[in-house]
Amino acid sequence: MLTDGPFYMVPAPICAGFIYLVRERQGNMIQNRILITSALPYINGIKHLGNLAGSMLPADVYARYQRARGREVLFICATDEHGTPAELAALGEGLPVADYCEKWWGVQKKLSDGFGLSFDHFGRSSSAQNRELTQHFAKVLWENGHIEERTTRQVFSKAEARFLPDRYVIGTCPHCGYDRAGGDQCENCTRVLDPADLKSPRSALSGSSEIEFRDSKHLFLKQSGFSDELRAWINSKVEWPQLVSSIALKWLDEGLQDRGITRDLSWGVPVNAETWGRNPQGQRPDVEGLKGKVFYVWFDAPIEYIGATREWAEAATGSNARDWKSWWVGEEAQAKVRYVQFMGKDNVPFHTVGFPVTMLGSGEKWKLVDQIKGFNWLNYYSGKFSTSQKRGVFMDTALEILPPDFWRWYLTANAPESSDASFTWQHFSDTVNKDLADVLGNFVNRTLKFTQGKWGSVIPEGGKLGPKETKLTDELERRFGLYSAFLEDIQLRKAAAELRAIWVLGNEYLADAAPWTAIRTDKDAAAVSVRVAINLIRLFAILSSPVIPFSAKAMADSLGLAPDELQWPKGKIAGEISVLKPGRTFEVPPVLFAKIPPEQVIAWEARFGGAPA
Ligand code: MF3
Ligand code: ZN
Repeated sequence: MLTDGPFYMVPAPICAGFIYLVRERQGNMIQNRILITSALPYINGIKHLGNLAGSMLPADVYARYQRARGREVLFICATDEHGTPAELAALGEGLPVADYCEKWWGVQKKLSDGFGLSFDHFGRSSSAQNRELTQHFAKVLWENGHIEERTTRQVFSKAEARFLPDRYVIGTCPHCGYDRAGGDQCENCTRVLDPADLKSPRSALSGSSEIEFRDSKHLFLKQSGFSDELRAWINSKVEWPQLVSSIALKWLDEGLQDRGITRDLSWGVPVNAETWGRNPQGQRPDVEGLKGKVFYVWFDAPIEYIGATREWAEAATGSNARDWKSWWVGEEAQAKVRYVQFMGKDNVPFHTVGFPVTMLGSGEKWKLVDQIKGFNWLNYYSGKFSTSQKRGVFMDTALEILPPDFWRWYLTANAPESSDASFTWQHFSDTVNKDLADVLGNFVNRTLKFTQGKWGSVIPEGGKLGPKETKLTDELERRFGLYSAFLEDIQLRKAAAELRAIWVLGNEYLADAAPWTAIRTDKDAAAVSVRVAINLIRLFAILSSPVIPFSAKAMADSLGLAPDELQWPKGKIAGEISVLKPGRTFEVPPVLFAKIPPEQVIAWEARFGGAPA
């Protein structure tokens, strides 16, 4: 159901000027279906808060907001399962890699449910659907002349009887003499290396120096031919954040390199060149030479956005049948779908070059991304969160120590949008204590407790709205406009600041109306203000639901609200303070947000490690 067109130009006054929301039109059609993808988390390891804050969580806030507005949303994520790190992690656990992936997909699915990430589908890049699509793209790219064969020299480790990816070869750096330089880069002097540059090379896996260089056939995606087309496309995206356009253009300015899209590994999507026809030069692929290879993980991973949509469609049957193509390919998708991607800044090149080239080169009408929301890093104190060093806070432990909304609020209000941000336990506890416990939780609690004490668990009657309420609704109207505009524009910190300001209006109204004083002389005046305050709880539940859905539900449940009473405001906000009428009952909810005591901060700093020594 569509309540209004999703993209409109709204001049929204903010302190120093105006922000403009872009009305997206293609021809005469409005893009009223919203496709949202979050960068796919790697299968190995539990994700840390930085991963959550820089893709999955903001994508979820946006998806929930768009659904609340009544728009048709498809929100897709999946695990990114191929590549050497997954293979090695499986080896480390002594599991076949397919079993390893299945197990860790289950863990990640459970954690994303725990955080309330409302994916319409959480897929797997190792699915049959993705294999078929990946192989399809490779075939048409070959037949259109955008894939080329090259013979490259690869490191082969005799001890492991396998080819080694460049970074799993270590040796002495020819430039600085560092003796543990990687085959791709020396971490000491940062120079980019080729494994052949290393002195006394050895396997990083076994330490064995029985390694040799062998020729191996590989496929390269001819990205360089797409430079002009990509530049024109990127330049046309005036609404992209500066972080994203600058990274995308930097790659073009440095000259696009063709990219190797195959690897000598056994885990991945197999290259099935035997099914390919001739390229425009009339050549067939070297089927023999390409036997046993798989596609590079960064080739098949973004294709899984489409693969997962197909998994979603195929999971439904009969009258629930779903159509994946109308989201992704053809005139209909071009005209009606607005496609928004969320990712950390390191992922930007793959989404502005690699994946678009895959789609464009196919010569088929695939839907390119409309908006990319890129993020800087969330750091842990002044260093990086690190999966390999287990530094920082991870999704599993986060949920063990606190409810999901504490994290959702903090990570949204402090989203690393315009620069890197850092997590510290003190900042975290200050933020949630102040915003959630003191401002929102306190408002809900004292309103309902006071009302219950004086009138019982029922909304009282009596009195009339007056100037205090007009002042309140005028302010709410203005802030609500800004809040919606910031969410539409995916400016999370600003949206969170407006939401907090909206909660503050509730407290200011209560302080001003002071029903606890008024009740001694004018019971009707007190009744009006608690009635309005209870209606504000309903409004806050609705407006807060994209960011803190669990608490929003607890608030809605305490008022016994039905789904049709939880609609995003459509008309004037003034109407929203008299929706719940006198006589209606409520329950006082258990404390919404327990405050984090100072000794807990000290205990967590000790347990998780504070500032690096
Ligand atoms: N797994 C990658 C990462 O965590 C992201 C993959 S995004 C996709 O950096 F486009 F490839 F799917
Ligand atoms: Zn070096």
